[in-house]
Amino acid sequence: MTALERNIMEEGTKIDWDTFSLGTAVVKFNLPIEFVDAINKAYDENSKNLKPHNDQLAGKITEENAVDDILTDEMKNVFSWCFQNYLNIAKVKSQYNTFLAQAWINEMKSGEYNPIHYHTSPNTDVGLSSVLMLKRPDWYGVEASREEAPANGWLQFTGGDQSPLSMSELRVDAQVGEFYVFPYTLLHGVYPFNSTDEKRRTLSYNCDLIKKLKNNPKEI
Ligand SMILES: [Fe+2]
Repeated sequence: MTALERNIMEEGTKIDWDTFSLGTAVVKFNLPIEFVDAINKAYDENSKNLKPHNDQLAGKITEENAVDDILTDEMKNVFSWCFQNYLNIAKVKSQYNTFLAQAWINEMKSGEYNPIHYHTSPNTDVGLSSVLMLKRPDWYGVEASREEAPANGWLQFTGGDQSPLSMSELRVDAQVGEFYVFPYTLLHGVYPFNSTDEKRRTLSYNCDLIKKLKNNPKEI
């Protein structure tokens, strides 16, 4: 072994690297617990009066309620900030204006689940959706098999690129305060859990993206 090899292999000479991943990005923001607590409080105080959102959603979940009306402007500004920053972090080249669309909260009980789905908007084909973990059971119950590869209650993203050297899917055990932002078109879902009476509460927000026009085209 040469001195150079020894320096690198054994003595920890630092070699920097950059990663360039092509394809869709999922960005996780870690939001403060005070923010989560404020949303939970608003939901607990108003959940009886909220409008069910089930007919707009894919979830096999009893309690799915629209929450646009109980979020304060300050809360909405935090979500807007995350959506705008997603575009920078994911190095999206096109210029978009962001428009907050619907927000809703899912309260998933034992045995319920959210099938793999994607999101759409009546206004645009481009947008960002999201999942913020607000409350969850400590334990998602007994895995039917292979405890070492858990899925109960986990959030699943499916990228559709099964190349041997690509990351084809992402399965996360979302913790309270974690806010996952991803494009409308990215397939995702949540696996059911069992063995607990505790609920898994998440907020999802849709954000429409409308392209900034460089020059105003004439309508024909
Ligand atoms: Fe979704």
